[in-house]
Amino acid sequence: MKRKISIIGSTGSIGRQALEVIERLGDKFEIIALAGGHNAELLNKQAEKFNPHYTCLGEEGLERICSDKENDIILVACSGKVGLKPTLTAIKNGIDIALANKETLVMAGDIVMREAKKYGVNIIPVDSEHCAIHQCIKDISQVDKLIITASGGPFLHKSVDDMKNATVEQALAHPRWNMGKKITVDSATLMNKGLEIIEAHHLFGFDYDDIDVVVHPQSIVHSAIEYKDGSVIAQLGLPSMHIPIQYAITYPERFEGIKSKSFSFSEIARLDFEKPDYEKFPTVKLAYETGKLGGTATVCLNAANEESVLAFLEGKIKLYDIYEITKKMCSEHKVIKNPTIDEIFETDKEIREKTKEIIRNIE
Ligand SMILES: NC(=O)c1ccc[n+]([C@@H]2O[C@H](COP(=O)([O-])OP(=O)(O)OC[C@H]3O[C@@H](n4cnc5c(N)ncnc54)[C@H](OP(=O)(O)O)[C@@H]3O)[C@@H](O)[C@H]2O)c1
Repeated sequence: MKRKISIIGSTGSIGRQALEVIERLGDKFEIIALAGGHNAELLNKQAEKFNPHYTCLGEEGLERICSDKENDIILVACSGKVGLKPTLTAIKNGIDIALANKETLVMAGDIVMREAKKYGVNIIPVDSEHCAIHQCIKDISQVDKLIITASGGPFLHKSVDDMKNATVEQALAHPRWNMGKKITVDSATLMNKGLEIIEAHHLFGFDYDDIDVVVHPQSIVHSAIEYKDGSVIAQLGLPSMHIPIQYAITYPERFEGIKSKSFSFSEIARLDFEKPDYEKFPTVKLAYETGKLGGTATVCLNAANEESVLAFLEGKIKLYDIYEITKKMCSEHKVIKNPTIDEIFETDKEIREKTKEIIRNIE
């Protein structure tokens, strides 16, 4: 039987790679719907090639896709806050989720995971680190610690001054991964790692003090877990998002699919690890702090960061301003503990407006 899938964000980096995976898997999937944001031309081309039942452009059609019970699984691969509402709708309709959109869990992880449990829905992570942890864990009650790897991005061995004066082009020149612009800038500031810590907290139910980060520039070890007895299990693979995407959409089965060659330890030859420099990359500390506060603290972190990243990409602010603005917003934010979904969206809107105002004053 074919697995029926829809892809939200099919025109983006993850979405396009997901279609490559599906193509390589032959007749394993039937595509119910494809959705993009603005790129009508690419969406049309994808529709011609993959023959989905229907397509949609923009946010309006996402609710329809996510309430369509024809779907066995929905890949949520849009960027930013757009992912939250459709994810919740799919969960309420009992549809499994392959989740790339980390902002969904950063904004409303408690609600999303609670609803998934209530409706018996699987949330399979696409993010390579969480996908790695998902693959390593056999008995979660025996695991003491999660160890998330970070490539370190383009400024790993550059000075703080280099970072302060970085151009958009330099920030987008990620040494390992070719991704959408928002996540690439997040990787340059290491905020991406911060968001991933919060994502891991919700997905696997670990305290923030039991989630460590280690810098691993080669991006071969995608993350690891440490069991009670000191045994460490890591997941390794070439740095390609095809592998975690395929894992997530075919789970619990595995297929050859996109695999192009065998993994060779001798070709890789060495793996390096180092402690993250939290003075140079203070975003990670900020993410730990807001994560521990919980409630709307992480909604604030996400919204202020996203608006600041957009402003950086538009040349309105400098790279380091992203952190400074986000920190200011987080320190001024009055946290609502256990917010409702409406309170989450209201907070998101309010923080975005305030962040834009700060940015206007900098310009
Ligand atoms: N790229 C990676 O390697 C990677 C790895 C791990 C996790 N992730 C996560 O996966 C998500 C997607 O990342 P990405 O790199 O694929 O981003 P991307 O290349 O920027 O793609 C974003 C996708 O979202 C769509 N979109 C944007 N606004 C929309 C809206 N209002 N309504 C419907 N669709 C909308 C875009 O459509 P248009 O292009 O048509 O406007 C595009 O298809 C992010 O949350 C990111 O953190 C990505």
